[in-house]
Amino acid sequence: MISVFGSLVSDEEIANVVACMQSQWMGFGGQVADFEKKYQEKFQLPSFAMVDSGSNALYMAVRLLDLPAQSEVIVPSFTWVSCAQAVILAGHNPVFCDVDLQTMNVRAKDLAAKISEKTAAVMVVHYAGLPVEMKPILDLGYPVIEDAAHAVDSIHHDQACGTIGDVGIFSFDAVKNLTVGEGGGITARNPEWIERAKVLRYCGIGKSGFDSAMSNAKSKNRWWEYNIQEPFIKMLPTNLAANIGIAQLDRIDALQARRKEIWEIYQSELRHIPDVICPPDANSGDRHSYFTYCIRVPRRDELAHYLLEHQIYTTLRYHPLHLNPLYRQTEKRLSNCEQLNEDALSIPLHPRMSDEDVAKVIEELKRFYR
Ligand SMILES: Cc1ncc(COP(=O)(O)O)c(C=O)c1O
Repeated sequence: MISVFGSLVSDEEIANVVACMQSQWMGFGGQVADFEKKYQEKFQLPSFAMVDSGSNALYMAVRLLDLPAQSEVIVPSFTWVSCAQAVILAGHNPVFCDVDLQTMNVRAKDLAAKISEKTAAVMVVHYAGLPVEMKPILDLGYPVIEDAAHAVDSIHHDQACGTIGDVGIFSFDAVKNLTVGEGGGITARNPEWIERAKVLRYCGIGKSGFDSAMSNAKSKNRWWEYNIQEPFIKMLPTNLAANIGIAQLDRIDALQARRKEIWEIYQSELRHIPDVICPPDANSGDRHSYFTYCIRVPRRDELAHYLLEHQIYTTLRYHPLHLNPLYRQTEKRLSNCEQLNEDALSIPLHPRMSDEDVAKVIEELKRFYR
């Protein structure tokens, strides 16, 4: 089966994990800081903290904004559930907005249509890794949470996606461009926010891990005591995950080059199928991360089943949140999200795909629409 998403792990990741296990300290420790430094330098972020998932990074991001209780955060409906859950868990209300049919990204006018006197912040998602047009969104004047879960390595107007709003998050889960198994990261324009995040991520205590415990013992009488700074959950990343991330960072340019290669083959081959609407490339000067290749097609469900029968697994990211029974809102329809719910489909794109896999996907698409 050719999978829609996938990672590519090398001997370096495996060696790093083995060395970490042999060190007998797999939990939070110094290698998390090593990964953070390396990641921050690679993508030129103003600040960066690793956490245990992109979903938790989103919750952290909302909390860092210190918004008034029960205020509203506008969230594109065409996104992963964590975007809405983070808002709710932080004590606010998500208000869903539409996205653009071509880019599948949220636009300033989609957000503006949902502004009320309770609006306290807006969220953007760089869908598939295509940078959102940020300037008009920043001009709305609200704090901006940037979900760059798909956009590791994406650049908009010379800035890394995730660093343009007030606070940005990344996902390093099993299928993302840079994977650590499960993991995430958070960046903020104000580095003090990330210092706070590093305290919050360990139950609001801050000091954590074997190394700091040992150094405390040398410098403090009752080294087991600590001051809790704020009530917070635990979202500590592990040395094990950081070790995988360090190796992935060494190879990220090659992994991205392979994604780009596959993307470009799809762009040149699939445009010849009149039924297939291909996704847009990034604007000149911007950089796409090629996380997923999402086409729009007639008879979408039939196509998905046909491809599955031919050993090609596809999916839709995402079932619009405003259609989910948990969030179902009585307000106006979000027609573009609903259109995407009927005709959008992600086809396989990941660095483990062989040239034969790519050719097979193209061939089966051509055959289905012949
Ligand atoms: C847009 C978006 N935001 C956030 C997340 C959450 O990331 P994680 O899986 O690391 O929790 C995902 C995961 O797929 C995502 O696609």
